[in-house]
Amino acid sequence: MKTIRRLKTSFCILTFAVFSVVWAQNNQSTVSPQKWETDYRNNNCITCHAQLTQPVALSNRYFEWHSSAHRDVGVSCEKCHGGNPATADKAKAHVGIYPYANPESRIHFRNLPVTCQSCHQGIVNTFVESKHYQNLKTTGLGPSCSNCHAHMASEVVLSPQQISTLCAYCHDTVNGALPPRPDIREKAEAVMQSLNRADVAVSWASSLLREAELKRLSIATERLQVSAAQGLLKDAKFSWHSFALEATQKKADEAFALAMRAREDLGKKVNH
Ligand code: HEC
Ligand code: HEC
Ligand code: HEC
Ligand code: HEC
Ligand code: HEC
Repeated sequence: MKTIRRLKTSFCILTFAVFSVVWAQNNQSTVSPQKWETDYRNNNCITCHAQLTQPVALSNRYFEWHSSAHRDVGVSCEKCHGGNPATADKAKAHVGIYPYANPESRIHFRNLPVTCQSCHQGIVNTFVESKHYQNLKTTGLGPSCSNCHAHMASEVVLSPQQISTLCAYCHDTVNGALPPRPDIREKAEAVMQSLNRADVAVSWASSLLREAELKRLSIATERLQVSAAQGLLKDAKFSWHSFALEATQKKADEAFALAMRAREDLGKKVNH
């Protein structure tokens, strides 16, 4: 428990480095979570918190959410924190909300997987299979969702190097709780590089595909390739959450190879 607390503190510092997550959303292999109404005028969590400017730490939470993908899809505060958004009375609105260090809190690191699971079933089911989840539940010694995703769980903010540092925190320290396994951090860094590269290649191919569609070119094969690459990339991201590093990298590299092939073929047609 102490470990994860320290881990959290040291990783707060890392959230400045943002790598953009650009990739196509439309693929058939997995179901995307539901989206909600994004008119927040009647949501008191949001109307009140948007006005708070002090203390900065509290105010900044609102802004983290404001810039997140969750805001765009109607995932308002109460969907993760609980409470009652229908009342403007602070005390009544906050019923059921506890500080995150309280084990009753829905955002306590042990409860986070369940909180996120209501919408991200696939990812959480994969995560639950990992040794990390078993350890998180018992000793608290395992990374939880917010160690890798921003506080508002809005984006993936860790670069390959930062991921490596995160893994090393438990898997490669002198006199640490676990035997040193430098291979884990090295592999994790490489897998992240594969994921990043596949992300970019897939969105590159996807944008060429849209261009080709606008030009009404005949691109049936490329369309299949791009959609297969998107599916593989999505699978790779799921598989990452089980920490099956080898399998994840293999999928990411296959997604990359397919996307690059489609990109080349599409490039020739589009620029013809
Ligand atoms: C009328 C204004 C107001 C409303 C409505 C409101 N909050 Fe707050 N909230 C605050 C203030 C002010 C704080 C700072 C702590 C305090 O004063 O209680 C806070 C603190 C929090 C905290 C930090 C918890 C803690 O114990 O430190 C969370 C999480 C939170 N609010 C979430 C929500 C959610 C979710 C809703 C809607 C269900 C909501 N708030 C509705 C004003 C509001
Ligand atoms: C997708 C889930 C999610 C949504 C939506 C969300 N939060 Fe959070 N929030 C979290 C998580 C997870 C943490 C704890 C992160 C960490 O480990 O530091 C957190 C932390 C906080 C904290 C600090 C809590 C504490 O106990 O110190 C406040 C305050 C807060 N959020 C307010 C809000 C407000 C206000 C909104 C809506 C404008 C909102 N959050 C929307 C997931 C969410
Ligand atoms: C009420 C439903 C809901 C809850 C609860 C929820 N999410 Fe989400 N989340 C979504 C939706 C919808 C999307 C957009 C997905 C899409 O467009 O395919 C999303 C997107 C994301 C993304 C991708 C962000 C991006 O920029 O692409 C991450 C990461 C994420 N959620 C993590 C979390 C974590 C971690 C939690 C728990 C703290 C959580 N979510 C809780 C519904 C939810
Ligand atoms: C060790 C780091 C790590 C942990 C812990 C982690 N994630 Fe992730 N997550 C990632 C990475 C890396 C990606 C892929 C990023 C990208 O889009 O390139 C990702 C992607 C996601 C996505 C987007 C998937 C998609 O299809 O685009 C969601 C949603 C998500 N994670 C939710 C969660 C939830 C919920 C938890 C806790 C149960 C969690 N993550 C724990 C690193 C982590
Ligand atoms: C907070 C501590 C913590 C962090 C951070 C952490 N792990 Fe772990 N990890 C554990 C624990 C505890 C185990 C279980 C060890 C055991 O039971 O043998 C484990 C087990 C594993 C295993 C299974 C090892 C095996 O041989 O069966 C892999 C793979 C793994 N972690 C990868 C990672 C990766 C990759 C990262 C970084 C993204 C990471 N871990 C970050 C605590 C952590």
